[in-house]
Amino acid sequence: MSDDLQPASSRPFVTTPAHVPALDIVILAAGESTRMRSQTPKVLHMLAGRPLIDYSLRLAEALSPSRPVVVVGRNADALMAQVGARARYVHQEQRLGTGHALLQARPALQGASQTVLVFYADMPLITQESMQALLALHHQNQASGGVLTMLTFTSDSPRGFGRIVRSAAGDVLAIVEEAACTPEQLGITELNPGLYCYDADWLWRSLDEITLSPKGEYYLTDLVAIAVGQGRPVWAHHVDDASEMMGINTRVHLAEAEAALRERINRRWMEAGVTMIDPAATYIDDTVEIGPDTLLLPGVHLHGQSRIGAGCRIGPDTSVVDTIIGRGCRVQRAVLENSELEDHVDVGPFAHLRSGAYLATGVHMGNFGEVKNSRLGPGVKMGHFSYVGDAAIGQDVNISAGVITCNFDGSRKNQTIIGDHAFIGSDTMLVAPVTVGAGARTGAGSVVTRDVPAGRLAVGVPARLRPSDEAQPD
Ligand code: UD1
Ligand code: CA
Repeated sequence: MSDDLQPASSRPFVTTPAHVPALDIVILAAGESTRMRSQTPKVLHMLAGRPLIDYSLRLAEALSPSRPVVVVGRNADALMAQVGARARYVHQEQRLGTGHALLQARPALQGASQTVLVFYADMPLITQESMQALLALHHQNQASGGVLTMLTFTSDSPRGFGRIVRSAAGDVLAIVEEAACTPEQLGITELNPGLYCYDADWLWRSLDEITLSPKGEYYLTDLVAIAVGQGRPVWAHHVDDASEMMGINTRVHLAEAEAALRERINRRWMEAGVTMIDPAATYIDDTVEIGPDTLLLPGVHLHGQSRIGAGCRIGPDTSVVDTIIGRGCRVQRAVLENSELEDHVDVGPFAHLRSGAYLATGVHMGNFGEVKNSRLGPGVKMGHFSYVGDAAIGQDVNISAGVITCNFDGSRKNQTIIGDHAFIGSDTMLVAPVTVGAGARTGAGSVVTRDVPAGRLAVGVPARLRPSDEAQPD
């Protein structure tokens, strides 16, 4: 892709060694985000399961092999902790506007590349296709002496965006910030989303020409009029889908963007074979994967690194967080966190899987059950209001109603081990650490404080072993 960005023949004076990246990307993220009214920096607010900044970074990573430069401000520590080595950083000590923010990147980037792409960190919905169109147009613009190419879009709700002023002939003349607009300019519906492509040499030379606005800021947008004043054509690619251009300045914008992104994500999964009864009430993080022929009922929330297999039926009213679900599973009205289900597992209604729950193929877990840090072997039945924590449970074990692994002795968590084909009677308390052997049984209401050998029956409080010949099913 960077081949597109080789210097145009009209600029033979540009000599760039082969190892120098053709394209550098600067993401402006040093704003104070006052309009969010938050302790958290705006670009770390979550949108469909990813922090806002992640959208800009992914876009940058798709467009150029050179690491993006992020301009950070007072939010530096939190932001750098989140983004780490994915970016290079420059600091803007004083918030003196977008032009001043970009100026901070000059020492790091001057002479480094032929083209600089700049965008704001609060524009998460812009697509790679639109950016590719911008780069392609810039390439053409350069060939005719242009140094600045940008995106625009049209909307009747300007949301504080800068207005695109054009000549009678239709050429771009300037971007005018809303606060500086004449009443007539306020009516302009072509807007500046804030994504620009510059000839690098020209950019680093021209930033000094931006003058202080009456608001006390250096506006990056002034570069348009500066280029035009020098007789350099400014070209604009118009993006027709205005939903790409939702900037996030307030929490209302955040919710609007969430809805737009939800629509985009859900459409993608429906096109990939996932059925949704009500897409508007189906919440899927951008990070989740879902197999075909899975049905999602209303009120399903799929978060984080969750992966859902094919042919499942999930919901209604179910949250799945960082959980892997196999094929053909059924999960209704449940909360699943950090867990794993093999194939054909049946969970709920009203079940809770907590961190480290592993349900093997064919497990049935009914209502009001909770499983934490435990493995349930193939075919385990756990039908009604039981708690299983820190346990290893073999194949085809029956956990009757009201069984509890008493895993916590007040200071430590202890393990319960249950062998294959064991039968744990209703209301059994398994006081861990304790082992129930393969094929063993416990009587209803027993409190098991000692190990039960394989094949034996234990009953009572505390549970005692019955003679072996009584260990037959009732
Ligand atoms: C800006 C544009 C406006 C455009 C809109 C689109 C300017 C002057 N105006 O306005 O034309 O329609 O975006 O979203 O550029 N930032 C810094 N340092 C600063 C100021 C801002 O790094 O000193 C960063 C912010 O973190 C943010 C971005 O620049 O990511 C844009 O700043 P913001 O204050 O949101 O600009 P807008 O008023 O939205
Ligand atoms: Ca903004």
